Amino acid sequence: MKFFIDTANLNQIEEAQNLGVLDGVTTNPSLMAKEGITGKQNILDHYAKICKIVDGDVSAEVIATDFENMIIEGEELASINSQIVIKLPMTHDGIKAAKYFSNKGTKTNVTLVFSAGQALLAAKAGATYVSPFLGRLDDISTDGLNLISEIREIYDNYNFQTQILAASIRHTMHIIDCAKIGADVITSPLSSISGLLNHPLTDIGLEKFLSDYKKGNK
Ligand code: G3P
Repeated sequence: MKFFIDTANLNQIEEAQNLGVLDGVTTNPSLMAKEGITGKQNILDHYAKICKIVDGDVSAEVIATDFENMIIEGEELASINSQIVIKLPMTHDGIKAAKYFSNKGTKTNVTLVFSAGQALLAAKAGATYVSPFLGRLDDISTDGLNLISEIREIYDNYNFQTQILAASIRHTMHIIDCAKIGADVITSPLSSISGLLNHPLTDIGLEKFLSDYKKGNK
């Protein structure tokens, strides 16, 4: 299972990378804006900085909504670094662009996926990753995890190579549940990944080991 961090914050990306468990980064226009990164050149430069910090795939989202401009923008993004994965919206033109890039051997991530049918289309188009948005489905009283299970079943039935990238992760248990279902990748905020570290019995156990050591080594 790959761990991606879902942020454009360089400090958090660095912290996750230093922990040694990071396989990549996903961003989106909202996450870029949150870090105050605006203007085309600044955004391209920011992607280059992210690629320098991590070893793995870095998803960079196109802003264009029509096929021709998605291709122009996607090629520009891909030219930044071979780590860049072109993130395309789950639309008619987004699927066409995913097929275009897949034919060229360029990595893609089809995003804003909320149904099994959409995920099936993304796989048919040869997307490298498909991003179902778990938390946003939970937000509207729909079972986000169930969607991940459905996609897993469909992809396994036909041996589709598209990797399920569970996105919109809101808490640590989402990561555990995605691991049980067999999502290939999760992308989450650093806080949800850090949550995997914690258990009170670990803290109590460590405190006891250290106090016993001190008693024996006075
Ligand atoms: O990057 C896409 C996705 O992870 C967004 O998450 O929390 O804005 O629904 P969220």
